[in-house]
Amino acid sequence: TGKVALDIGFVNTAACTSAVTYIDGDAGILRYRGYPIDQLAASSSFVEVSYLLIYGELPTAQQLAEFDQSIRYHTLLHEDLKQFFKGFPRDAHPMPVLSSAVSALSTFYQDSLDPFDQRQVEISTLRLLAKLPTIAAYAYKKSVGQPFIYPDNSLGLTENFLRMTFATPAEPYEQDPELVKALDMLFVLHADHEQNCSTSTVRLVGSSHANLFASVSAGINALFGPLHGGANQSVLTMLESIQREGGDIASFVERVKNKEPGVKLMGFGHRVYKNYDPRAAIVKQTADSVLDKLGGNSELLDLARQLEEVALTDDYFIQRKLYPNVDFYTGLIYRAMGFPTRMFTVLFALGRLPGWIAQWREMIADPQTKIGRPRQLYTGATERPYVAIDAR
Ligand code: CMC
Repeated sequence: TGKVALDIGFVNTAACTSAVTYIDGDAGILRYRGYPIDQLAASSSFVEVSYLLIYGELPTAQQLAEFDQSIRYHTLLHEDLKQFFKGFPRDAHPMPVLSSAVSALSTFYQDSLDPFDQRQVEISTLRLLAKLPTIAAYAYKKSVGQPFIYPDNSLGLTENFLRMTFATPAEPYEQDPELVKALDMLFVLHADHEQNCSTSTVRLVGSSHANLFASVSAGINALFGPLHGGANQSVLTMLESIQREGGDIASFVERVKNKEPGVKLMGFGHRVYKNYDPRAAIVKQTADSVLDKLGGNSELLDLARQLEEVALTDDYFIQRKLYPNVDFYTGLIYRAMGFPTRMFTVLFALGRLPGWIAQWREMIADPQTKIGRPRQLYTGATERPYVAIDAR
């Protein structure tokens, strides 16, 4: 019980050691297990990157095939879990539906809740990786009033997710391989980001030895906030409102600089990156090609580009080292793919899942781990005697 240091928002305090992801915010570097993000985005797949994050090494062809097969095996949801979706209001946001359903996995899979049983950790890992896309697609189907589409295990994870989301029993569904590839790559870009708010939440909850489903459910709720994963939804809402008001970027930027309550340049700024977010650079290139191909809203893309240009040449943003982050352009791509705005943060959650799992497993396996229990500096009243109610 030495002196307690105050560090609001953990700006300077490391809460753990980790060998999963490396970020150098000044140099704009991001690596998973040592591998640069641009190389993984160009050459790897989301399932392979999930393996890399969770097990620490790139898989051999056989390891990858086995891992992929095991994930496919677990894609079905328990039929009773389907009832769950029916209980929510039709206009429910899919993020709380997602976190609730993941939390409910603890009730359906009581055989895989022990964080110290390696076999159980392994099964819960596979179940989560396999079932989250199904849960996400069902949350979407519920919101549009369409029937749930069962997974088809002849398909890979991302293909299966797109089919469960966009297919209907009424007509044949055709996969667009370019769309599959683009979404898979976006999942790779989101797969881990060291001790961000949701990952720290997963670790903190897990540090009490809560099971993996409970910990990840908490992480999903942390991700929902607009300063974190919710930003991808807020960016699109912001761009649309600028467009509605006549596309006056200069006056919007003025409002941001004047710090009008609730007015921020969403998709800009990052706690760690004080240079360009390397993920944003890749997403920006993808936005061009995907929107070209899918015919997205090019007016909004133009608006985003102009906004970026204005911000990057303005002293307010330069002095504060504010650059576009990963969320700035992703929403435009998701929209062009056909996802409603409310699904954007769900897509972030699907991408971030292997990172949450890898970090939770690293923490559980680390003999140094203690229960997370921050200290405080007390600023309340000093001791005072209780006052009877009629004397107040
Ligand atoms: N627009 C306008 N001003 C900003 C912004 C922004 N987006 N971000 C930071 N600032 C200002 C902030 O007001 C402060 O100014 P001052 O020094 O005059 O008080 C200065 O820049 C430093 O910002 P901060 O709030 O101390 O930085 P932080 O590290 O605590 O917050 C952040 C990081 C990402 C929460 C913040 O930049 C933000 O709110 N950005 C908008 C939301 C967003 O895009 N979030 C997504 C983050 S990336 C991926 C993810 O996690 O989802």
